[in-house]
Formats: sequence, structure tokens, C-alpha cells
Amino acid sequence: MKLLFIADIVGQPGRRAVKGLVPRLRQRHGVDVVIANGENSAGGSGITPKTAEEIFSAGVDVITSGDHLWDQKEVTELLEKEPRFVRPLNYPSGVPGQGSVVFRAPGVPPVGIINLQGRTFMASLENPFRCALSEVERLRASAKVLFIDFHAEATSEKVALTRMLDGKVSAVIGTHTHIQTADEQIFPGGTAFLCDAGFTGPHESVIGREIEPVIRRFLTNMPQKFEVARGRILLQGALLEIDEGNGRALKIERISEPLAEEA
Ligand SMILES: [Fe+2]
Ligand SMILES: [Fe+2]
Repeated sequence: MKLLFIADIVGQPGRRAVKGLVPRLRQRHGVDVVIANGENSAGGSGITPKTAEEIFSAGVDVITSGDHLWDQKEVTELLEKEPRFVRPLNYPSGVPGQGSVVFRAPGVPPVGIINLQGRTFMASLENPFRCALSEVERLRASAKVLFIDFHAEATSEKVALTRMLDGKVSAVIGTHTHIQTADEQIFPGGTAFLCDAGFTGPHESVIGREIEPVIRRFLTNMPQKFEVARGRILLQGALLEIDEGNGRALKIERISEPLAEEA
């Protein structure tokens, strides 16, 4: 089976890339399931039911999130009601929403999807390693194909978590840094890995935002308004081929697809 993962969708340009490219990518590669990180889909910060709906209607099956989860207050509606929306699993118990889901569609094997957040240079949630072990164990009862979006800053944390789960899940793809890494590989146990999938949105930018205010902030330490940039829109992510019989990854390919728009 084939699974397409789309890295952090940033603002309106990111949503435009999803609308313009996902149907084409689905068709070109015969994709069975599409998962996208939507944490920056609303004006670059957070997600709302409206931006989620735009992403779903472009052909995305499940949306994951990350540290920008709470930036839009309407997210509570998604957390409480949307079965296709997943937030980091390692929030303390009692927090609304779900940290994993088993996606089911006709003609496609069930796919377990887990979202986790790292703790190195990030907020101290519950231990993602411990949470991952028990959740993987639990989901294996209902799905052979398991996918993890590990939203984390540190490369070592992402590699270590994937090494720990090698052979237990089909793929771990990193998100959050918005910079696509070139280390796509399949570990010996059959788990595909990419340290960071990049981001979907305007790449003539500093990780999706207008360049000048970010430089000014670094130069002066004064607060700046970071608008979402506009130029050179790319859809980034990874395309996975998975043996649905045993859940092992067969192939991983980085995606960085330009959006060609009519003027
Ligand atoms: Fe993030
Ligand atoms: Fe992000």
C-alpha cells in the first residue's frame, strides 16, 4: 500500500498547495492514504475547523498536529468532535482530543496513526518514548500498518525514538523544524524514517514567514509581526510504500513538489 505524508501546512499558501497538488499526487502514485500535519494551517499558527475542512476536502484523510495546537481557540471543536484529527498523544490525561486513530477505508488495510511531541527544547509533556511503547502495543491489535508523526526539534530524539520502535511500526516521520532533511532510510527492522519532512507553503521565506521581520527580531530582540510569506510554494513530505501483510516499509521517498499556479 502507498501512504503520502504531507509536512506542516503553513497558512493559505500551504492550503493552496494541498488543494492543487494532493489530487494529482494521489493519482500519479496510486496513493491509498494521505496524512498531513495541519498545525500551522490557520494563518501560520494553529488550526480551525474551517482550515481542517479545506484540507480534508482536498483529499487528506487524517490531520496531525504539534506544539501550535492551541494557537486558535476554535481547535477545541476539532479536539472534541473530529475523528480525523489527532493531537500529540503525550499530553497529560484529561486533555480533550485523541493521540492516535485507526483509519479505515474500503479497499485499504487499517492504518494506525500516532502523533507524538518531543521534549528536547520544547514544552515538557509526558515522556513520548513511554507513551509510544504502550500505544504501539495497543494499536497493533487492530492495525499492522502503523505510522507516527513525531513532532520534535532535536534530531537525536527523533532518531532514538525510531530506533526504539524499529520493527514495531511502519514509519516514523519527523515534523516541526520545517526544514526537510536528506536522511530518508529504512532501518534494519523495517521502519522507514525521515528526520524532518519539511513544510508545505512558501519557501521564499524563513520557515514559512516573511524574511525581513525574522531578521529584525534576531538583530534587535524586539517583538515583530511574522506574516506568512508568499513566494515559491512547495508541497513537502514523504511517500511510503508499505507491505500491508507485515507492516514493513518497502520504500521511502522525499517529496518536494512545486505548485504551478496560473498567473
Ligand atoms: Fe511545531
Ligand atoms: Fe510547524
